[in-house]
Amino acid sequence: MTAMLEYDDEAARQVEAVYLTTDVVQQRQEVLRLLALTPGEAVLDIGSGPGLLTTEMAQAVGPTGQVCGIDVSDSMLTLARNRAVPPDSAPVEYRHGGADAVPYPDVSFDVVVSTQVLEYLTDIPAALAEAFRVLRPGGRLLVLDTDWDSIVWHSTDPDRMRRILLTWQQHLADPFLPRTLGRQLRQAGFHLAPPRVLPLLNVGYEPTTFSGREIPVIARFVTGRDGWTAADVDSWGEDLRTLGPDYFFSLNRYVFRATRPE
Ligand SMILES: C[S@@+](CC[C@H](N)C(=O)[O-])C[C@H]1O[C@@H](n2cnc3c(N)ncnc32)[C@H](O)[C@@H]1O
Repeated sequence: MTAMLEYDDEAARQVEAVYLTTDVVQQRQEVLRLLALTPGEAVLDIGSGPGLLTTEMAQAVGPTGQVCGIDVSDSMLTLARNRAVPPDSAPVEYRHGGADAVPYPDVSFDVVVSTQVLEYLTDIPAALAEAFRVLRPGGRLLVLDTDWDSIVWHSTDPDRMRRILLTWQQHLADPFLPRTLGRQLRQAGFHLAPPRVLPLLNVGYEPTTFSGREIPVIARFVTGRDGWTAADVDSWGEDLRTLGPDYFFSLNRYVFRATRPE
């Protein structure tokens, strides 16, 4: 797709706000639990964005570990580099770099992580080959992505909601990546654990939830595309905000854990 979301300063700050919601804080806690990092491990975060998970992983591996983040967005890299790293964390380094050309040598990391990134990529095999290359044999990969077909978002105008979401899906190269990711990981040479699902669920409208914070992100992206005017999009958002206790949002994210064979 040609219209993918570009993370300028405003978009980067919007994403950071979404990722500071309790919903996503809890998701990161579950990702950290599944990663089971141990002190001293070297970790690469591909598409590190605002650096929230990167920083938490640096705490988990401690001062004898090492954590690196790469991203293609300078705005995201600036947010991440400005994030305070707590004492007794691993040193954290951020580099500009794409998932299909990771700027580190072969066999550099014990763990590679990429959350909410692969669905933006047009060449998944190239990204998985890079993750494989920089992992040591026996090293672990964790990938998390959303399948936008799993969404349930109540609206008084279901047809408008369906069409808004169709336009929103254009921000990704593959809005349905999880359903084929297992096969693509196996084809890249990884051994897979059973995938896990992490649902996001918001019942009753609250502006500080994941979906409450996503409304302006989606509004900004869809306005001006597929004929959507600012007034159309305002009306869509206002409908959601005024549903009160009838507000209902649910969306699934899927976690894939894989290892590079010894
Ligand atoms: C939705 S954010 C997720 C950020 C972070 N992984 C997290 O979960 O908090 C997607 C990030 O992927 C980055 N990204 C997009 N395409 C990329 C690519 N080809 N290589 C590396 N990063 C990329 C974006 O710049 C953005 O920071």
